[in-house]
Amino acid sequence: MYPAWLVPVLGSGLIIAIIATFHILPSHLATGSFWFNVWLERKAYKENRPELLQFLKKYVLLILIFCFVYGSITGVWIWFSATVSSPRAISSLIHNYVWGWATEWVFFIIEIVAIYVYYYTFGKIDGQHHLRVGWTYAWGAWISMVIITGILAFMLTPGKWLETGKFFDGFFNPTYWPQLFTRTALMFSVAGIYAIIVASRLDDADLKVEITRKAALWGIGGLILGAVFAYWYILKLPPEAKNLVFGGELPYLKTLLKVAVIMGAVVGVYYVVFGLIAPHLSNPVVGVIVAIILFLGIGAGEGFREGVRRPYIINYFMYGSSQVIARSIPPKGVEEEVSKLNEKGYLSVLYYLPEQLRTITENNKLEVGRVLVVHQCAACHTLEPNGVLRPLPKLLSGMEKDDIRDLLDSLGDYAYMPPFIGTDEEKDAAAAYLATLAK
Ligand code: HEC
Repeated sequence: MYPAWLVPVLGSGLIIAIIATFHILPSHLATGSFWFNVWLERKAYKENRPELLQFLKKYVLLILIFCFVYGSITGVWIWFSATVSSPRAISSLIHNYVWGWATEWVFFIIEIVAIYVYYYTFGKIDGQHHLRVGWTYAWGAWISMVIITGILAFMLTPGKWLETGKFFDGFFNPTYWPQLFTRTALMFSVAGIYAIIVASRLDDADLKVEITRKAALWGIGGLILGAVFAYWYILKLPPEAKNLVFGGELPYLKTLLKVAVIMGAVVGVYYVVFGLIAPHLSNPVVGVIVAIILFLGIGAGEGFREGVRRPYIINYFMYGSSQVIARSIPPKGVEEEVSKLNEKGYLSVLYYLPEQLRTITENNKLEVGRVLVVHQCAACHTLEPNGVLRPLPKLLSGMEKDDIRDLLDSLGDYAYMPPFIGTDEEKDAAAAYLATLAK
């Protein structure tokens, strides 16, 4: 095990969630925007309309800056925060999918090179060649989504991989296609809002109305298809996940789902009102407000997707927070660790632990208890009374040490929490420390 990353008040999970939400807007814009681009550019050549090209140049510059500065930086932050938060889970993913990521990065490089070439050769090479560069970007960006979605979906539904340990059995898993289709549809919607915002700054009123209308149609199409595919995704959720959401185990997941649906509906109304009915009224301020609403909807949707695999970080395979392997994968030579650690102790795998904390005594009990709680609870709970993520002092308030000890015994009975892992002595130390929080 690696040292744990403890983020006071906010909790490490929330930090990743915030960064990931900030990443998803530019990343879906990066994958969706160029399909609109090449479509419009083709039209510009076919109908000989240079003013459309003027719009496209503006449109691309902002993508270049927004997605490839902001999107790239937040992408690195996701890696960084996810790695320090759950190093063992990331290690498992890398051990299985390193070639997946390598392939994704090839397409990512194609995407980056293509957008620079596209922008800087505007009007300098002939139209058909320029259009080809645009197509290269559009396909390169979308294929990077095709690949990363396999790894994202694997974490919720590892599918046959649990028996075979094979790359493609985990990659093309039960939620892969619905998730890929949902993201593909919604990326057009993200692109639609962006196109409307850029168009709203055009001086030529007729052009503004024409592009806004077209972008709104793309956006509405993306939203409708996105809703259909998202429904398909929900149907494909594992029974345990459905139980968390619809069985009332974790009501907040249902709330997140509702928020995502409501935000999607607001974006839909925006498309109809400012895109189709009164495109001349669209302006950057309303556009940015809707982009913020979209951002909240994305945050809720992704929060839902991350939340439904509790108590695992990789479903059925590795528990959240403690990062203990819950199930053997014989073809990979990976063994279940719970029984071993319940016997030998969780401390036995905390290699970084100072010598004086390895054996529990009356003197160090609370300190060791804290180490165990940080490892086994803090990825999902904060330890401060004013913490944001399900603060333990609040959840445990009024409980005595013995009650807490009983709670630790039955933690695994909750549908959303992993069992406490370790010896009776360790459980006792953790309960003693938790009792100090409960006061
Ligand atoms: C994988 C995430 C996860 C881990 C790890 C986890 N919990 Fe929880 N826990 C939750 C969630 C989610 C809830 C539900 C919170 C709610 O209902 O608002 C919860 C609820 C609780 C509750 C309230 C239970 C009730 O009946 O309402 C207690 C107490 C609690 N956790 C203690 C702990 C302790 C102690 C640990 C560490 C040994 C721990 N949890 C580890 C996710 C987790």
